[in-house]
Amino acid sequence: MKVLVTGGAGFIGSWLVDSLISAGNAVTVLDNLSPQIHGSVPRLDATWSDREAGVEFIRADVRDKDALDAALTSCDAVVHLAAETGTGQSMYRVSHYYDVNQQATAALLELIATKHSHVRRVVLASSRSVYGEGAYRLEDKIVVPGSRDPNRLKAGLFEPTDEHGNSLTLIPTPESATPQPSSIYAATKLANETLGRVMAEAYGTTVVALRFQNVYGERQSLKNPYTGILSIFSNRMRQNLPINIFEDGKESRDFVHVSDVVKAIALALEAELPSYTTINVGSGVPTSVLDVAAELRTCLDSQSEFQITGDFRAGDIRHCYADGARARSLLGFSPKVSLRDGLEAFSRWVETQAIPEDRSAQAQSEMASLGLGKISA
Ligand SMILES: NC(=O)c1ccc[n+]([C@@H]2O[C@H](COP(=O)([O-])OP(=O)(O)OC[C@H]3O[C@@H](n4cnc5c(N)ncnc54)[C@H](O)[C@@H]3O)[C@@H](O)[C@H]2O)c1
Repeated sequence: MKVLVTGGAGFIGSWLVDSLISAGNAVTVLDNLSPQIHGSVPRLDATWSDREAGVEFIRADVRDKDALDAALTSCDAVVHLAAETGTGQSMYRVSHYYDVNQQATAALLELIATKHSHVRRVVLASSRSVYGEGAYRLEDKIVVPGSRDPNRLKAGLFEPTDEHGNSLTLIPTPESATPQPSSIYAATKLANETLGRVMAEAYGTTVVALRFQNVYGERQSLKNPYTGILSIFSNRMRQNLPINIFEDGKESRDFVHVSDVVKAIALALEAELPSYTTINVGSGVPTSVLDVAAELRTCLDSQSEFQITGDFRAGDIRHCYADGARARSLLGFSPKVSLRDGLEAFSRWVETQAIPEDRSAQAQSEMASLGLGKISA
């Protein structure tokens, strides 16, 4: 196969490109080496940066339609990863997120449909964020609560309830849960899914939207202050600085190691699939923020103190973890890396990296100044 990987110089993309090359595929990467992710003097530091590796690297913005057009030439498949990824940042850079995430995806799908019908499959990087809150059970019903009320959050009432204030029991979120994005980032990802479905039905290109949970691991950007809780924590833990734990620390995420995610993408490129489908990609295990922070602190042998501040941000959810049944049945995918093993590998890699300037406080204050949550200085 010849595969176009947009965003192929990023965290997930760079591992995916390694995997595609070692499986004997040709790869084109289109990536603008965004300074927010790659630093102010961005350079391609992927393992495949020499042309010998069989990778064509196009440094271009995914919004550049001519560059996309050229990159699509003779490709059999596309994995579309290029995106802005900061949930919080998306709440005030709305048109920029719309442009990079949604408008560019529309242009990509249009080019494939009208000019590059040799592309038989498109894998869209979607996100668990499309669900908003995860799924819960109330008696015998499955409930997906709406966005949490800021007044309840201010009062320290973090757990979602139903509209009558009844407490709910968390369950794994299946793909059939009604999506209710609570951030602009999530809204762009859901819109892309819809674009993909309509184009697949109309033109016959297979489109699969993979809803990644919280992906972590070696090579994740340590410089981007807008996303990646483990990057932000690890930067501070390496300096033994205090860690601001939002809410009460019991909010949870499904942390899935990048090597598992890359396997799921490779399977999605080859499996027999319906013309359009969404598939969860996660570990299937919820872990509280406090627990993951404690594990990471142990792995990094850090003395950082945890400050449980009750802070919160608009757009954040309380819990969500993947129901992996569809990934198992359609892709034959099951995650293999335990959180402990993944955090060990991540920590050993982090220790080989320079400690970047910590800009997370600045990123948080941008939100606080717009009233998008309560964030301590
Ligand atoms: N990492 C996660 O936890 C996670 C979770 C859910 C979904 N996703 C999605 O997976 C995809 C890959 O995420 P990642 O973690 O590897 O992110 P990343 O930030 O490490 O990589 C994104 C890549 O896209 C490139 N890029 C950004 N804007 C671009 C533009 N305008 N033109 C061209 N290239 C551009 C960046 O330079 C970067 O190399 C994204 O679409 C993201 O939304 C990631």
